[in-house]
Amino acid sequence: MAEIRITEHSGFCFGVKRAVEMIENCINSGRKNIFCLGELIHNPDFTKSLSDRGVTFIESEDIESLPKDAVLFTRTHGTTEDILKRLSELKINCVDTTCPYVKKLRGIVASQPSDTEVMMVGNKNHPEVMGVISCAKGKTKVFADSADIENSFTENTEAKKQILVAQTTYDRLEWAKCVSSVKKLFPDCEIHDTICRVTDERQREIEKLAKDSDLTVCVGGLNSSNTAKLRAVASTVCKNSFHIERASDLVPLAPIIRESKKITIAAGASTPDSIIQEVYNTMAEIANENEELSFAEMLESSFKTLNTGERVTGTVLAVNPAEVKVDLGTKHTGILPYDEITNESGVDLNELFHVGDQVEVICGKFSDADGTVLLSKKKLDQHKYWEGIKAAHESGETISGTVKEIIKNENGYAGVIALYGPNKVFIPASQTGIPKGESLDELKNQKVNFRIIDVNEQRKRAVGSIKSSNRAARKKAEDEFFATAKVGDKFEGKVRAIMSYGAFVNLGPVDGMVHISELSWGRLKKPSDVLTEGQTIKVYIKAIDPERRRISLGYKTPENDPWNIFAKNYKVGDVVDATIVSIMPFGAFAEIFPDFDGLIHISQISTERISNPGSVLKVGDKVKVKIIAADFERRRLSLSIRALLEDGPAGDISESDKAPAEEAKAEEAPAEEAKAEEAPAEEAKTEDK
Ligand code: F3S
Repeated sequence: MAEIRITEHSGFCFGVKRAVEMIENCINSGRKNIFCLGELIHNPDFTKSLSDRGVTFIESEDIESLPKDAVLFTRTHGTTEDILKRLSELKINCVDTTCPYVKKLRGIVASQPSDTEVMMVGNKNHPEVMGVISCAKGKTKVFADSADIENSFTENTEAKKQILVAQTTYDRLEWAKCVSSVKKLFPDCEIHDTICRVTDERQREIEKLAKDSDLTVCVGGLNSSNTAKLRAVASTVCKNSFHIERASDLVPLAPIIRESKKITIAAGASTPDSIIQEVYNTMAEIANENEELSFAEMLESSFKTLNTGERVTGTVLAVNPAEVKVDLGTKHTGILPYDEITNESGVDLNELFHVGDQVEVICGKFSDADGTVLLSKKKLDQHKYWEGIKAAHESGETISGTVKEIIKNENGYAGVIALYGPNKVFIPASQTGIPKGESLDELKNQKVNFRIIDVNEQRKRAVGSIKSSNRAARKKAEDEFFATAKVGDKFEGKVRAIMSYGAFVNLGPVDGMVHISELSWGRLKKPSDVLTEGQTIKVYIKAIDPERRRISLGYKTPENDPWNIFAKNYKVGDVVDATIVSIMPFGAFAEIFPDFDGLIHISQISTERISNPGSVLKVGDKVKVKIIAADFERRRLSLSIRALLEDGPAGDISESDKAPAEEAKAEEAPAEEAKAEEAPAEEAKTEDK
């Protein structure tokens, strides 16, 4: 009877699992108009199942016509920078499922200056490679393998420096050859081993098992790069190595299967467990179809199938509040107790499990006496989530968990414990983002985002930081803002701080500054005359400097420019009602509508010669005035009472009477008025009261 083994690291990797969970949650929330930019993961069966549940798959050229309420998932391999930029410009609600390992690789490439040449080994037509290359500022080259490097390389003397990176699923043995080929050409080339750890582990494992197998089958989408790599590694040590997509592909292999004594099944990172199980069952059926086993032999073989610590997928037989019974396909019935499912209390197992569900577990103690095996899901989750913690530590990605414990010591609050899956992550008080000495109790049972800042592999302990995650989130939002904001964009912002020279206004992810000269069309002594902290105001971008992260905001608009209001409603020669608002030695200022006044020069107050305007007028007096001159350029308005007192029809005035205010001022204005003349344009717009 053939021995069929499934590699330990088979099926969804951390990155794929994460992406699948993200889209499953979205579908389960009842959200409509869900789109995927290309295949989320490279597996046709999974793609079909998403499509059956209403997800629409589109290509990059289709993004222009997405509906407004669309939610778009980008794939785990990432996409190009151009597409990301366009999505952001179109303001599409985009869920980026790019695997943290791929993000880390993109970060390495993006951080290189433009005089660095980025060399990458991988498949140049793979979306991951195209996405990574799009992050580079300088020259790039993609090589398929070491032979390609040696045959097609032409030296580029312009580049000051070279770096070498790899597609995350690249073959480890070939990578070593590429490194040595590149080192021959560029001894100083910076080497970044960016092959993902998951890929590494799987390639090492299949190499070991395939060596000792008559037949090796790698299960995964035919366009799955990591499955193809597994098959390539297996074929170096096992002559019968095949890449299949699903169980039905085993039929043509039946003769080889029947002849094989040892068979290894491996699966790529995008292969669902259900497909692996189906391949295993079909393989077992074909391999053993001619075997006539005695009942005793079958019983024996069932004993051999499972061992303590083994990972296995079973079918739920029954669920009660204390445990779940699982059929493992052996004579032992699996018992999955509540405590081996979750650390949380009050979880309804009937909501989590249903009869007929497939469940992945780890085998514990076997009891032949009562025919049961104790199972644990928690241990399996602990392992999976620990992998997630390590990946998040490496990539700097933010993960979320729920705060379950507040830790105190003799000095007060020491920190909190957040659960990431079943794993505990300690967040020191200094990393919670709550000011020193203040209570951390408000965090209890809160979902928090954090980054992993330290891991202890041996003790399986991790330290997190909410503060660092907040910083990263702020930085991301800021980057997005500066990538899309442009001069003229309008915002509603909150006044955050008022200074003597202007006000800082919060626009969400960033603050901008409104200069005092921008706060009023008139002259303003201090910004607090027109604004208060916390006030919401409408502003627009006047200037933006993404490099220095500076934004100048405008507050005044042509619509509220009093000179435009004046131009619309008044003209020279009009007789209007006015209120005296200030008296100066050279005349009086009269307001003709709120915040807009003109000068009645001393010579225009009366038909008599007067030496002191205060002897005739006082602040608050209501007077009728004639508009005798309006200098739009210098924003000066001249008014006259005398013109209305003189003989002739109201409004007739001689040319000499029209003397603009500033001429009169030149003759009579005291020192402070002369100063106003010299003030910067925006400060001299209307006459000061
Ligand atoms: Fe990410 Fe590695 Fe999987 S790159 S998607 S964890 S194979």
